[in-house]
Amino acid sequence: MCGIVGYIGKKTAQDVLLTSLKRLEYRGYDSAGIATLDDDNQPQLARAVGKISELEQVVQQAPHAGHLGIGHTRWATHGGVTTVNAHPHHVGDIWLVHNGIIENYKDLKAELSDVDFASDTDTEVLAALINREYTAGVKLQDALAKALKRVRGTYGVAVFSPREPEHIVVARLGSPLVIGVGQGETIIASDASALLGYTREAIYLNDGELAVCSRDNVDVFNLNLQHLNAHAETIQGDLAQIQKGGYDHFLLKEIMEQANTLQNTLSGRIDPQAGTMRLGGTNLSPQELKTLRHIVIVGCGTAYYAGLLASYYMEQLIPDITVEVVIASEYRYRSFHLPAHSVALIVSQSGETADTLACLREIKKRGTKTLGIVNVVGSTIAREVDGGTYVHAGPEISVASTKAFTAQVVAMLMFAGMVAESHGGNKALISELTQELAMLPAEIDNTLKTHQQTIEQLAKKYAKFDDALYLGRDTAYPVALEGALKLKEVSYLHAEGYASGELKHGPIALVDETFFEVFDILDNWLFEKSIGGLHEVRARGGKTIVFTNATDKDIEADDIVRLNTPIKHLAPLLLNNLQQLFAYYVAVQRGNDVDQPRNLAKSVTVE
Ligand code: M6R
Repeated sequence: MCGIVGYIGKKTAQDVLLTSLKRLEYRGYDSAGIATLDDDNQPQLARAVGKISELEQVVQQAPHAGHLGIGHTRWATHGGVTTVNAHPHHVGDIWLVHNGIIENYKDLKAELSDVDFASDTDTEVLAALINREYTAGVKLQDALAKALKRVRGTYGVAVFSPREPEHIVVARLGSPLVIGVGQGETIIASDASALLGYTREAIYLNDGELAVCSRDNVDVFNLNLQHLNAHAETIQGDLAQIQKGGYDHFLLKEIMEQANTLQNTLSGRIDPQAGTMRLGGTNLSPQELKTLRHIVIVGCGTAYYAGLLASYYMEQLIPDITVEVVIASEYRYRSFHLPAHSVALIVSQSGETADTLACLREIKKRGTKTLGIVNVVGSTIAREVDGGTYVHAGPEISVASTKAFTAQVVAMLMFAGMVAESHGGNKALISELTQELAMLPAEIDNTLKTHQQTIEQLAKKYAKFDDALYLGRDTAYPVALEGALKLKEVSYLHAEGYASGELKHGPIALVDETFFEVFDILDNWLFEKSIGGLHEVRARGGKTIVFTNATDKDIEADDIVRLNTPIKHLAPLLLNNLQQLFAYYVAVQRGNDVDQPRNLAKSVTVE
């Protein structure tokens, strides 16, 4: 979603702002802009619709010379995708970039009837509100704090004024802001990855905090302007992790590097010899683990599907526990009740998804313990949960989530293994799964490399279709859902995932020669039933692709990709790897913007 950057220091601000904005491109955006203050304290503005490269062209025509500035990538909410609606906005001496939504902007706008608004945005209303306070002669931080107290909604903001060229003032509520502390320079961003290469020391602003950022100093306050103690933390990761490393797209890189990233997820958490798994950081006492009776898994999109797949393993592993998996955007508004001895797993790659964060807060209000299954270190969800774990998949730059899915499922599986042990669960199964986890990185690598070319060819064949159904049973069902999501996200093909058993209850009506059907078929006790669905589709002229781990069973389909792997329980993850590659190559065939698919944002920080 929208990205914020800011810079004050010795370097030319426009260069730092443009570089940092490029690092945020993966979040998804439709326009961008920067505003700087030159050394004579004259503000300069550049905005453009489209990619940062468009903005660079605007800047090239009229370069900015100053050493202070703010920048923004906008994902439109209020007002269309136009240059005038792009940030930064300014009213009077207030120059502002904003992430989030000002929910009461209409009421505020009505109060500001003397202002001649140029844009349709809620952000410009906020700028006008701050400006009204500022014209009363107070300092910038006072004006900002006063204005923010009037606001209902969410914000991450960075503001400067030519009257106070010695600092940028920032604040957050529900939208992330990180302040990089450098040598004689301060860099502001909505995502720590934008700071890499400039500094490793960062202050993560909390909700309700405001900071005055100068070259050599950062002062943090609450909205009553009481000074707070803030500590810089060390940012993890490095520049190489956020570069393509020789691949054409981040999506392909992130699919292909899963064997390595999974090693990080597993590291120190499984003991294949003892046949045990252990996930640190959950902050659950042995007693709490033992008495646990109910697990609710919360997520959106791919994180939800990861939870759904993990829930099948949890039920198999822990006999005396109920597991429910919920979509965050629904659950947050339901009158849900969680029984005693419940725990909530809050699953999020970014750790910033607004709906998931809202659920976390609702669940905490009800007194249930929350555990994060989060990838981005230092993210809001990671900071607000009672315990939990980082999945250590590394930065995921491509908007479509791939390696995070694998890591999330595995992290939740290790959690389940640990709970199962304390519940006297099936020891043999815990051990088998532990052995499979140990083998999984090598099997992922083997699967991807063995089938990459075949999948590329398949993609060429099927890229001309416009509709697809993905079908799977049992643990292959969440994989079918995820496969359809991945395909639609990056290829823009219409794709739906269904439980194979549902085929006859409706979707089979769609089957004809214009659709193709992907069957995820596991070599297990439901094999014959899955094959039944495949026959029904073929009998009606459907074009079928089968992804399966059945090596020696007769299967009739237009195309079959057979895994050859000793992995059984975790084979759904390998089938998913094939689907990830398939979606990638179909998108490439269709000439799409693979890493930044239209209309999507990496981190969905608005509702
Ligand atoms: O950052 P999160 O895991 O909380 O994001 C949840 C979804 O927005 C995300 O998985 C989305 O569905 C992706 N575009 C999937 O590829």
